[in-house]
Amino acid sequence: MTAEPGTRVLKADSAAIEAAASCLAAGGLVAFPTETVYGLGADARHGEAIARLYAAKGRPAFNPLIAHVANIEAARELAQFDADAEKLAAAFWPGPLTLVLLKRADCPVAALALAGLDSVALRVPSHPTARALLKAFNGPVVAPSANRSGHVSPTSAAHVLADLRGRIDLILDDGPCPVGVESTIVACLGQPTLLRSGGLPREKIERVLGHALAMSAANEADEAPQKLEVIAPGMLSSHYAPKALVRLDAQEPRNGEALLAFGPPPAYTGTMLNLSPRGDLIEAATNLFSHLRALDASGAEAIAVMPVPHDGLGEAINDRLARAAAPKQ
Ligand code: TXA
Ligand code: MG
Repeated sequence: MTAEPGTRVLKADSAAIEAAASCLAAGGLVAFPTETVYGLGADARHGEAIARLYAAKGRPAFNPLIAHVANIEAARELAQFDADAEKLAAAFWPGPLTLVLLKRADCPVAALALAGLDSVALRVPSHPTARALLKAFNGPVVAPSANRSGHVSPTSAAHVLADLRGRIDLILDDGPCPVGVESTIVACLGQPTLLRSGGLPREKIERVLGHALAMSAANEADEAPQKLEVIAPGMLSSHYAPKALVRLDAQEPRNGEALLAFGPPPAYTGTMLNLSPRGDLIEAATNLFSHLRALDASGAEAIAVMPVPHDGLGEAINDRLARAAAPKQ
């Protein structure tokens, strides 16, 4: 597989899923859809494949990867579950929740994928193609979002191709991702802590736990991580940056700006896309990254973004928008 120069794009039927599983087993890199965003998969136990994955993304090697598994039984082979982790896994797996847990002493995930941490991030995706791939491969698959490091996450096969053509072996195309923002990350290493808001709203998690989640320093202060154990290193402030300047909470666009609208839009003759004309946060999450990419590609120097409410998925949407607007590193 690795000798193949091009990147194959296959419609995600059962033959393609078998081909993708064989590619992973041979140390290849396979992009596949999940309910949140497209992931770039590699065999979690294969150090060389993981090194290629970091190179393909241009990702700083200190940033650890999420291991995707088919079910909680497979997750138990990698990490230790405390009582809170048990509750959250029972309530939300499969689905858009990643748990950061203490890894087991015999955890087979390559040290490179964990960036030397003694914790491991685990996720059981609900997307049928992701599940079929994990079943066919029958092992843990590390998968960061399938974009070049620092770009917005891909929610379609075309986005993956635009970023990674020629750098990876295969893309399984199964249309747009239904959730559209990355998984929510919660560390269960003592007091459950929200490391990244995402596709599972915080309120739902807190209802199951019966109390509020602690917030990580990265969420509060939005600064580069000091302690890898309590901060998701990918939460660097400008991680989700388009090339254009991004101006938040815009009531109306200024001359020459592209407009990212939410709800009823103002009259505007310039370039405009609407996250959700009817003001629906679920629809807005689905459109967020594709609209940011499209407005960036329009060549506008700046993107004005209308206000988005903070409840439910609005927390994750506003988090990604704030990162898109942060000064570039
Ligand atoms: O929805 C998702 O989570 C997607 C799909 C493909 O599953 N994946 C994804 O992966 O967003 P990635 O690599 O782009 O983001 C994973 C985040 C990074 O911010 C990383 O620093 C953090 O998870 N992370 C991974 N392992 C960690 C650990 N042991 N402790 C703290 N943070 C960790
Ligand atoms: Mg990412």
